[in-house]
Amino acid sequence: MQHRRLGNSGVEVPAVGLGTWQVLDVRGREQEEARHEVVEAALDSGTNLFDSSPMYGEAERVLGGALKKYGRDRATVATKVWTSDDREAEHQIQRALDFFGGRVELYQVHNLVAIQKRLHMLEELKSEGKVVSIGATHYSRSAFPALMDVMSSGRVDFVQVPYNAAETAVAEEVLPLAKELDLGVIVMVPLGSGRLVRSAPSEKDLEPLREFGVETWAQALLKFVLSDERVSCAIPATSKPQRARENALAGGPPFFGEEEREYVSGLARRR
Ligand SMILES: NC(=O)c1ccc[n+]([C@@H]2O[C@H](COP(=O)([O-])OP(=O)(O)OC[C@H]3O[C@@H](n4cnc5c(N)ncnc54)[C@H](OP(=O)(O)O)[C@@H]3O)[C@@H](O)[C@H]2O)c1
Repeated sequence: MQHRRLGNSGVEVPAVGLGTWQVLDVRGREQEEARHEVVEAALDSGTNLFDSSPMYGEAERVLGGALKKYGRDRATVATKVWTSDDREAEHQIQRALDFFGGRVELYQVHNLVAIQKRLHMLEELKSEGKVVSIGATHYSRSAFPALMDVMSSGRVDFVQVPYNAAETAVAEEVLPLAKELDLGVIVMVPLGSGRLVRSAPSEKDLEPLREFGVETWAQALLKFVLSDERVSCAIPATSKPQRARENALAGGPPFFGEEEREYVSGLARRR
């Protein structure tokens, strides 16, 4: 697994992390233990960055339980605060600190909600040593201008944005500014929230990508994102340990050149 700088934040992150939306939102011993195994497989494969949010139901709690079992110190936790209510924001942050052993390495303002007030709270936590780095996220292209204003304010070290072989708006809008300001970039929905992997191209179509270590279509899609040097980390979500291991294998060189990226984009746009 390759490790990359998260911009100028001073934090090193694995090229492939694990998203927890939906996949860790489970209740009950059997289901939770099954998802703990996904976290274990991720950690063992070098996928040691985990992205969560209070918006993801039980996911923060289930992730916290898994990390208690397998080693909180092995993980970089990225979670979010997501509310316009100040007291609820304090509550969300306290819950997360409790789940994650009193610290959250990467704390993000989810969907830019109440951004100024939330940044202020996160800056205080950073000064207390409970947070290492602060970021902002948005999933919608229509919010990129507002996200870019926050980037230019100098108050965030990194952003989390959508980017995949069929959705490349950030490549023109957000990533050039991230590069200019030396900010980290975490990529959400690298598999199009599962849409791009519902059907895979033929073995023959994947053949030209084999020399890049690509064995599966999901790995081709992840390499597409990771071959953009402005990207720090992609966070595919999965509910299956073997897929966590499969996805981790996309996190090392060789990465694609422009020609292969265009080829994968062409295949993705046909999904
Ligand atoms: N800040 C925001 O606004 C925001 C918005 C969306 C997402 N996110 C973050 O980004 C993460 C990733 O986005 P996402 O969860 O929407 O979608 P994604 O990672 O693009 O796709 C996840 C889907 O792909 C499937 N999958 C994963 N690995 C696979 C493989 N090797 N082969 C075949 N299928 C595979 C998973 O199904 P299985 O479980 O069956 O493997 C799951 O349904 C989220 O979990 C969340 O942490 C943030």
